[in-house]
Amino acid sequence: MTSVLASPPEGSGLKAVPGVPGIPYIGNTLQVMRNPFGYARKRYDEYGAVSWGWLLGQRTVTVQGPEAAEVVLVNRDKAFANGPAWSYFIGPFFHRGIMLLDFDEHLHHRRIMQQAFTQARLRTYMDAMAPGIVRGLEAWEPGRGFTVYDHVKQLTLDLAADVFMGVELSRAERGRVNGAFVDAVRAGTAYVRFPVPGLRWHKGLQARKVLEEFFHRHLPAKRRDGGDDLFAALCEAETDDGHRFCDEDVVNHMIFALMAAHDTTTITLTTMAYHLARFPDWQERLREESLALGGPELDHADLDSLTGIDMVMKESLRMVAPVPALPRKVVKDTSILGFHIPEGTTVVVPTLTNHHMAECWPDPERFDPERFGPERREDKVHKYAWAPFGGGAHKCIGLYFAGMQVKAILHQMLLRYRWSVPARYEWPLDTTSLPSPKDGLPVRLDRWENT
Ligand code: HEM
Repeated sequence: MTSVLASPPEGSGLKAVPGVPGIPYIGNTLQVMRNPFGYARKRYDEYGAVSWGWLLGQRTVTVQGPEAAEVVLVNRDKAFANGPAWSYFIGPFFHRGIMLLDFDEHLHHRRIMQQAFTQARLRTYMDAMAPGIVRGLEAWEPGRGFTVYDHVKQLTLDLAADVFMGVELSRAERGRVNGAFVDAVRAGTAYVRFPVPGLRWHKGLQARKVLEEFFHRHLPAKRRDGGDDLFAALCEAETDDGHRFCDEDVVNHMIFALMAAHDTTTITLTTMAYHLARFPDWQERLREESLALGGPELDHADLDSLTGIDMVMKESLRMVAPVPALPRKVVKDTSILGFHIPEGTTVVVPTLTNHHMAECWPDPERFDPERFGPERREDKVHKYAWAPFGGGAHKCIGLYFAGMQVKAILHQMLLRYRWSVPARYEWPLDTTSLPSPKDGLPVRLDRWENT
């Protein structure tokens, strides 16, 4: 039965948000998780862009479409806060990460952090990761049933040690830090959300301690010696007016950045690999483009010439947004597209399903990278139609880094391997957490020889 979220103040001219709450706390959570695309469509058809329901234990207003996404992400009257919204999911493991800070404090940290993502810094990161990419890919063993997702995840994790930490680690230490990091990320999607020894939440808290201890131990040397990695960059980062991060900040931001970078690039690469396996013509086209560069080493300047990879990356990010939804907590009464949104509400921008709206994207379920080509530019329909990196003050600070890393890895993959899936294969996408293939995306991997 339809019910409104809250009556708007008299005389405000605002409308009440409609919705079907369902069972308190549970509401439509299962439907949203199992079939986000079908559910979003149904809800949009019934209620339009702004509607509410219980989701993951909270009264949640879901705003669909680019216009509503813009209102929330641009956040002109500072009514939407990140910290309280994201903390609900990942707070204990990633507290004081920049995405969990708000308003003036967030801006202050963001200005300093920006110094670690300048063009010059990006170039050094790219150089630092090049040998690790080659080493990682060379170790892949061709054959049937090669699970792309698992291998890419391991590769990006190993690269993080070079490019993010820049610390020489013994095998055991690397395993311990990587393991702690994986546990911290997993804890965010725990069903039992309090510490029971042996379960995810508890492991996440333990992992946070391991990571804090690790970064604090290496911090004095990093401050002293510097380096070409993100850890050193955060230690050195300084705004024109002399603001820097204290030790606690560096550690908190490192732990958060590792998380923000890792699953997202893994999902992007896996989605690209999936579509390139299903559409071998595209795989061939991209390989030719990579071969045309004339040598395996990829220079920062070469990135712009990989236009095919760029289109495939954009289309893959459209079809599977690695961060499927952006939650916000309403910190003062506000409105979205003429609807009254009371303080205390959770608002969610569902990027994953927004990217499949037929209102913005012709034939949205079709893999069609040319839609991002210069003749069509379908993303121009609205500034927020394609928003895999979010928008506004919290827009992904690592988006150029991500593009660089994804393109550098795919370029090297194309020069070494050809991969395929059976003609009728469709991957089973798990959308209960960050989207990923339930089967790990098994492909037939063959060595590619330039004959
Ligand atoms: C394809 C890969 C990536 C995707 C799709 C992605 C997506 C996003 C999105 C949607 C947000 C905004 C969250 C919000 O508004 O609530 C975000 C924020 C952020 N991302 Fe990324 N990200 C990617 C890669 C990276 C990488 C490689 C790094 C670091 C090197 C990174 C670091 C961050 C940070 C630090 C924030 C928080 C920014 C802030 O709050 O000011 N991301 N990312």
